[in-house]
Amino acid sequence: MLAPPLRKRSVLPILAPHWYDFGPPDFATSGFSPSRSHACAPHPFRIHLYQTESIVQIVHYPDPVLRQVAAPVAEITEEIRRAVGEMFELMYEAPGVGLAAPQVGWGARLFVVNPAAHPDEGEEYVFINPKITGKKGATFADEGCLSIPGVMGSVRRAKWIQMEATDLEGNRFRIDAQDLLARIIQHEQDHLDGILFTDKVSDADRPDIERQLESIQSPPQPQ
Ligand code: NI
Repeated sequence: MLAPPLRKRSVLPILAPHWYDFGPPDFATSGFSPSRSHACAPHPFRIHLYQTESIVQIVHYPDPVLRQVAAPVAEITEEIRRAVGEMFELMYEAPGVGLAAPQVGWGARLFVVNPAAHPDEGEEYVFINPKITGKKGATFADEGCLSIPGVMGSVRRAKWIQMEATDLEGNRFRIDAQDLLARIIQHEQDHLDGILFTDKVSDADRPDIERQLESIQSPPQPQ
């Protein structure tokens, strides 16, 4: 168990699930094997929540916060645990399978994942100050992003990855992930560096994606 259990939430029924992130979950191919290590480096910066009171909101493209490089988390505080809980809630409401802090306007190097996109299914992962330490293989699959609703495109990702991160208890751990889980992790990790999946879509999907992004930036004016 990587993430400490979060309070169970009741969520609105999802009537018409739209798998914004990478299509329906496939547990047969989302392999996962955690192992702990204590290679915990000190983190020099302190992060601050943009929103300190009300429920955080998902920010949308082209909000500039999505292009910023997030800062390492210095200390796991109660405020961070609470914000992580709210991120899970937002992710499930969307619904999505992953959400990175910059997507709620918070410039912190952390993201949450549940490949099942539902609080009663799958497993909840919290990755703080994550670092991809190994990659192998390549696959293409459609991706979407909760910050760019309605836009989807095929992206090449490593099939297997190895990652190091800190959990909500402050423990450094290592995981090996493949297929869907590896894809989600790579997508969310990119958010921490201001990179969006639309930057990486296949050549075949690029013209269409660019057209769609254009129309988000300058929506047609009412006559
Ligand atoms: Ni995204």
